[in-house]
Amino acid sequence: MEQKKIIVALDGHSSCGKSTYAKRIAVELGYSYIDSGAMYRAVTLAAMDAGLFGGTGEPLPGRIEELLDRIELQLRFNPELRRTEIFLNGRMVEDLIRSMEVSSHVSYIAAISPVRKKMVEYQRKLGEEKGIVMDGRDIGTVVFPDAELKIFLTASLEVRAERRYKELIEKGMPASLDEVRANLAKRDHIDSTRADSPLKQASDAIVLDNSDMTVEQQMEWFRKIYEKITAG
Ligand code: CDP
Repeated sequence: MEQKKIIVALDGHSSCGKSTYAKRIAVELGYSYIDSGAMYRAVTLAAMDAGLFGGTGEPLPGRIEELLDRIELQLRFNPELRRTEIFLNGRMVEDLIRSMEVSSHVSYIAAISPVRKKMVEYQRKLGEEKGIVMDGRDIGTVVFPDAELKIFLTASLEVRAERRYKELIEKGMPASLDEVRANLAKRDHIDSTRADSPLKQASDAIVLDNSDMTVEQQMEWFRKIYEKITAG
């Protein structure tokens, strides 16, 4: 008998390896992987292009709603690169949205309720058929509170900063370790203290600290949890 499809919600702090883990889980289960953070990053890029930020890095009030009406996001699978790419009004922005500049603005944009409302609607639509792994900050608490499997991933700030720094350098994107560490700490603070859908562990989420774990060890851990959940 074919295994019933579920939703895997993967939340946690910035740069703790959620997307790597979520992609591996999706491949293992034959599910789609959806990176909800890419959506907030793409809106941030659109806001940057539209000149919606003041000198402090925070968005100028009032103009985001009008911008939202003009934004169309689309996720498309690129079979050559074997990755899902995000398109902003028809333009592929998957790489551009990973810059430090976008990272330094994104949490302000993600705290704005009309932005969240539009993104959550899109995310729920993508999950209608189940069979997805979605990572983010509010997937288990707000987007899919009934997800069958919720994981809350974390790691020490130092480990997370080193991982992200290495990733950016490998991609040829300029960054310093200090800047990356400060950005992660700041985003975690804004994400956890915002009024709308703050980053927090769902009461029924299983916590995994992967500071000292390889991805393979995380997969072993996942298999056990998945078996338990789908057997019941
Ligand atoms: O990959 P990384 O952990 O650096 O971040 P991300 O998943 O790409 O998310 C970027 C930012 O988007 C986060 O710092 C949050 O401010 C926001 N976000 C959110 O508010 N809700 C989500 N479900 C996903 C991301």
